Amino acid sequence: MVDGRMVSMTNSAVVLADAASYAAAVEEASAAAAAYYAGGESTLDDDAYDRLVRGIAVYEEEHPQDVLAASPTGKVAGGAAGGDVPHTVPMLSLDNVFSAEQFATWTASLERRIGRPVAAWSVEPKLDGLAVAARYRSGRLERLITRGDGTAGEDVSHAVGTVVGLPEQLGEPVTIEVRGEILMTNEQFEQANTVRTEHGGDPFANPRNGAAGTLRAKDRPYTVEMTFFAYGALPLPESGELTGTLAELPHSEVLRYVAGLGVHTAAETDVAPRTVTTVEQVQSRVEEIAALRASLPFGIDGIVIKADLAADQREAGSGTRAPRWAIAYKLPAVEKVTRLLGVEWNVGRTGIIAPRAVLEPVEIDGSTVSYATLHNPADITRRDLRLGDRVMVYKAGDIIPRIEAPVAHLRTGDEQPIVFPETCPQCGSEIDTSEQRWRCVRGRDCRLVASISYAAGRDQLDIEGLGATRVVQLVDAGLVTDFADLFTLEREQLLGLERMGETSTDNLLAAIETARTRPLSRVFCALGVRGTGRSMSRRIARYFASMDRIRAADVDTLQQVDGIGKEKAAGVVAELVELAPLIEKLVAARVTMVEPGATPPPEPGEEGTDAAAAVAEGETAAERPLDGMTVVVTGAMTGALEKLSRNQMNELIERAGGKSSSSVSKRTTLLVAGEKAGSKRTKAEDLGVRIAAPDEFAELIAEFLPSEV
Ligand code: IVH
Repeated sequence: MVDGRMVSMTNSAVVLADAASYAAAVEEASAAAAAYYAGGESTLDDDAYDRLVRGIAVYEEEHPQDVLAASPTGKVAGGAAGGDVPHTVPMLSLDNVFSAEQFATWTASLERRIGRPVAAWSVEPKLDGLAVAARYRSGRLERLITRGDGTAGEDVSHAVGTVVGLPEQLGEPVTIEVRGEILMTNEQFEQANTVRTEHGGDPFANPRNGAAGTLRAKDRPYTVEMTFFAYGALPLPESGELTGTLAELPHSEVLRYVAGLGVHTAAETDVAPRTVTTVEQVQSRVEEIAALRASLPFGIDGIVIKADLAADQREAGSGTRAPRWAIAYKLPAVEKVTRLLGVEWNVGRTGIIAPRAVLEPVEIDGSTVSYATLHNPADITRRDLRLGDRVMVYKAGDIIPRIEAPVAHLRTGDEQPIVFPETCPQCGSEIDTSEQRWRCVRGRDCRLVASISYAAGRDQLDIEGLGATRVVQLVDAGLVTDFADLFTLEREQLLGLERMGETSTDNLLAAIETARTRPLSRVFCALGVRGTGRSMSRRIARYFASMDRIRAADVDTLQQVDGIGKEKAAGVVAELVELAPLIEKLVAARVTMVEPGATPPPEPGEEGTDAAAAVAEGETAAERPLDGMTVVVTGAMTGALEKLSRNQMNELIERAGGKSSSSVSKRTTLLVAGEKAGSKRTKAEDLGVRIAAPDEFAELIAEFLPSEV
């Protein structure tokens, strides 16, 4: 039924010529829907599913006498398995539109039905997760139930406690059912996959499967986090006077009410629900949300538009499958089927040998995807991937595209096995295959040039004049075997190299001298510890204040740092042991090993002498201008800040006592808005967040500005 032609078509419905192809289509759609709701491996991508269902609907309109009971068009949840906890009010689905025209037609028919214009619309993100109902009795979260088939769902109360945004106790002792979506944010998804693969499990194919699998799992030896977003609430039989109130409140007020009780809603996100009055305003918010989709920290698959007023909703009523007062404006799918052409084996900076899928280029959500991550060799084997396979590819926001699964029923028999390397593809050494992730036995030394270039990079030691070509020269001449050797290079050695005159030599030596004084956060980042980039390195350096303390920290202590979980902590500890000889060489070369301005947490019985040592000249641990503030930077910096990269701006904010963040929310205290500041400025204005121009900000933190600026 689904062939190469069909999956490459866009937006049109599948044409079903006769009863047999209609029946086959219903069967295929039901199987795909069942897999979707169970969080299993999907057999159709979203676009293909939508086209199939539209084809089924067209056929049914023309042949109403032939409609099959199993058809996804008449079902509440299109074939999902039910559970044993009945819903007090069915958990309905939503009808879809795919264009401005279809939306206009839908509003016109709704307004005809109620006999007047819809007074106000709520425009909100369609969160790509799983619908759940959270029953609160006297303010206490009593039960968490999946949507199931819409009439009855499964009890998943065991997940309470792992879902951010779903408090166990509300701010008021009310009895209410909050409905919403549970999902994994991109970060939670990456984290879940790290933890899962470390426990020998298969990585989740996409955040939605991650949330579905996690919600059901009862006895896992580890926990992973998910996030809840409320999109509605209704009374329960014992809700008392709240019953009447909820029935009359506009939808937007219901959302504000549940947020006030302490439940998470999308209000704090860039795609917060907005109430507007005209169809044009709806359309322009739809376009805004669509444009923001790729930068969101969680997945959305559309926009939901709802008549806001209770009276409008009541008069519109609901069908068996979906309400007539709300509609999903679907966005293009972020999953597509394409062909696996090859597998490349790349050796990373740390010697990890990572397989990467080469794909027949496919357009997903506005960008062309030609490569996807393949995790590790065991994962390829487990999923039985073969060259030439049709594969489902998932790409959303800043998530690295990944292969979900081969579409087995599209195999032709010509697919070929994927050949694993027998020796390191970079240097030919042996491969250590004892862990899931294969590694060249030479570790970091295998990619010496890449590791040294990384350490010398702008956001690490920032050694000007030390590009990759120079590093190759130094490595080939045997002058450096790691980046610590840079600090003991002698003038004559450099002069002896090709194309190194007196001036370039002196400039390079001066740049290396400056690098010796870079703060610990930069030095730590230069080590290239897996899983610790710029911002994590700064957090670690600020928390511990000295390299000695970082090295002395055990797994528990490391977890005190914001954003470090148990697994990451264990990884950092292990890598620091491996990096000990390099760190000792750096210490011997008098490279800075403290973080200026950082105060380490006092240890029992300690008087804080190290802390004093860590406080650099001119900076005191107490009273910094940004203490307790959360600062966001947007737009182009000018004046004293003009030359600073975003990373340097973030460093500056943190040195001056603040917390740097990339998105504006209610928690933001200050927005530094440069030229061409866009949506972040508007949002800060809406929220009443203080806004400073670059010059004003430079003045505020003047004493912390780097000296070379
Ligand atoms: S309202 C009676 N609002 O989309 C109205 N649903 O395809 C029913 N969803 O079952 C839902 N974001 O799981 C609503 N802002 C939102 C939503 C949303 C995601 C999901 C929900 C629903 C499905 C329908």
